This record gives sequence, C-alpha cells and structure tokens, in this order.
Amino acid sequence: MFPLENIRIRKAILNMHGYETPRESKSVVKLDANENPYGPSPRVYEALIHSLKDLWRYPSREEYEKLEESIACKLGLDGDGCVVLGSGSDELIDLTIKLFIDPGNAILTVNPSFSMYKVYASIAGGHILEYTMTEDYVFDVEAFLSMLDMFRERIRLIALCNPNNPTGGCIEEKDIAKILGYGIPVLIDEAYIEFSRDKTAISMLKDYENLIVLRTFSKAYGLAGLRIGYAIASRWISDNLRKVRSPYSVNLLAVKAAEAAIQDDDHLRRVVEAIILERDKLFGRLSNISGLKPFPSKANFILVDGTKLGFNPEEFKSLLIQRGVSVRVWSKLGMRKGCLFRVSIGRPSDNDLFLNALMDIASGGWGS
Ligand SMILES: Cc1ncc(COP(=O)(O)O)c(C=O)c1O
Repeated sequence: MFPLENIRIRKAILNMHGYETPRESKSVVKLDANENPYGPSPRVYEALIHSLKDLWRYPSREEYEKLEESIACKLGLDGDGCVVLGSGSDELIDLTIKLFIDPGNAILTVNPSFSMYKVYASIAGGHILEYTMTEDYVFDVEAFLSMLDMFRERIRLIALCNPNNPTGGCIEEKDIAKILGYGIPVLIDEAYIEFSRDKTAISMLKDYENLIVLRTFSKAYGLAGLRIGYAIASRWISDNLRKVRSPYSVNLLAVKAAEAAIQDDDHLRRVVEAIILERDKLFGRLSNISGLKPFPSKANFILVDGTKLGFNPEEFKSLLIQRGVSVRVWSKLGMRKGCLFRVSIGRPSDNDLFLNALMDIASGGWGS
C-alpha cells in the first residue's frame, strides 16, 4: 500500500466548497440552471452536422482567430479590445484569476453572487473579500468603495456580475466607472447581459485597460451544452489569458456552433424577447402570491424570498420536484435567511407548470 501520510492535498482545496451542479431528475422541468429552453439557432445544427467529419482533428488556430474576429466585428470593437475564447465563461473566470491572484492575494467580490469566483479564487490560494449587498439585494456603490479603500493594497482583482446571479439586478455604468478608476483589474461577468436593457461595459474598454468583460454562449444563445464563452480585454491582458489557457480547450464543434449562432441575429432577438416577456409576466404573477417576495430581475431568472410560506429550502425543493419542477434553493443569501429560491425563465408552459405547483404548495396542498 502507498503510505497515505505522504499524500498531501493542499489545505486550500480541503477547506473549500466545490460547485454542486444540480442533479438531473427525469420528467422534471429544469428551471434550476438558467439555461435557455429555446435552444440555439437552427443554423447551429446545420453547422454541427457539417463539422462532424472533422472530429478527428484539433481545432486550428485559424478557426479560433476567425471566431474571435467575427465576435469582435459583431460587437463593433474597432480595435478597442481583443476577444479570447474559453471553454465556457467558467474557464475564463479561472484564467483571469490565474492571471492576477498569487496565494494570499485578495479578490473582492459581492455577496451574494456567482459562486465560481470564490471557487477559483480558493483553488488559487487567494483570499476572498466580500461586499454584502443590502437586505433587498441593492448594490450600494459607496459601501463597496469603502471596502475597496480599506483593503486597496491587498486587492489584486475585483469580480462583479452584471446582471448579478442570483439577484438579477445591475450595477450602473457610472458606478462601474468609479470602481474601474482605482486601476485594479476588474472582471465584469456579463453572462446575462442580453436579457437586460442596460448598457454593456464593453464601451468602457477604450478608457480602462484594467477592464475584462466576460460573455457566454450558454444563456441567450442556448448553447450551454457545448461550453463556449469569451473574454474581451486589452491586447496585453488577452495575450496573457491565452498563455494560461490549455491548448484546444474550446472544442471544434463549439467553435463552429458559436460562429453560426452569432450570424443569426433574428433568432437571438426572438428568443430574448420571448424570455423577457415571460420574465416580466412571471414577476407580476409572483408578486400577487401572498407570502412571496420576488426581486426585480434583468436576467433570465427571478430570485424569490419564500420564507413566509413556512418551508425549509430542501422541503420546498422536493415539494416542487414532486410536482414536476426543479428550481435552485438556498437557506441563506447575503443578509437574508430562510427559504430563498431562484427560478429560471422557461417556455410559457414551463412557467405555468411552476406557478401552478407553487400555488398548490402555498395553498397547503403539499401532502400529495
Ligand atoms: C454569472 C455567471 N457567469 C458564468 C457562468 C458560467 O457560464 P458558462 O456556461 O459560460 O461557463 C454562469 C453560469 O450559470 C453564470 O451564472
């Protein structure tokens, strides 16, 4: 036997919580991972079929560059930033942290927000500082800046999610400018920006070389299963992000699919409009159910405080699953404790199923 005491897993890993992906339950409508049930443009399927014959080979540098150029052109970058592909924006969060965080350096982020900033920072041995939003999940820029002032010397990266997952709100452009003004690298994760009417931070790249914007094909483009996203940053940062990326980490099918997806503006617009319409409708209906407090959202999900319904989160989750719907639940998010849940916006029939299940549970029909 190999002597076990000679094996040392790093403390940083032993002490951290990994990301738990939701378990797949059969015959359940999945409203737990902010996916887009409409899926990608039909052009994507054609491109994929056409590319199957090339599966034996690695994606080429030219294929990466062609897609990066197509994205830059679509965004109208005009030389104000470079595009770097990643295997999902998850990989780009990891790469950005690898670029700036040495063990012991601090990363400043927001509580609650997307948990992968903390996961990757922990893996890197970074120290996580969190600004906690107000009780109603408002981002108070002055409170955030005081924290920034207090720990300025130690902070090597700021990670912000805009719109924020899971709360759904956005940080205003003038507040982002104040944060960028400190000159510390700022990662702005715009995974859900297509669902918001707020401005992207991309236009700020011309003024701030410390800005890194992340985007994904997993949400509005409906390509979560293929794993592709991109960063937009200065040439200097982009070149270094490519250095830390594994060779060929973005697979060939993902590159071809993304290339086809960005050419179909009509599909994107139709899907995004349908989701926004349903989101606003669902928000209105949730607001009318006594005991629920939904928070306004600019993304493809809504966060709800359901504490007053009187269930613990796991019980609530399984009552919904029994009725055919899966949502994400928490017992604590930022300052709030109780039963908090986030529901992704599905097709109208999915949202109806969810609402009926919820009303059944709220009205006491929870024994079945
Ligand atoms: C805010 C945010 N950023 C990044 C990601 C990761 O997305 P991707 O599928 O591009 O890795 C998610 C996924 O849910 C997310 O919510």
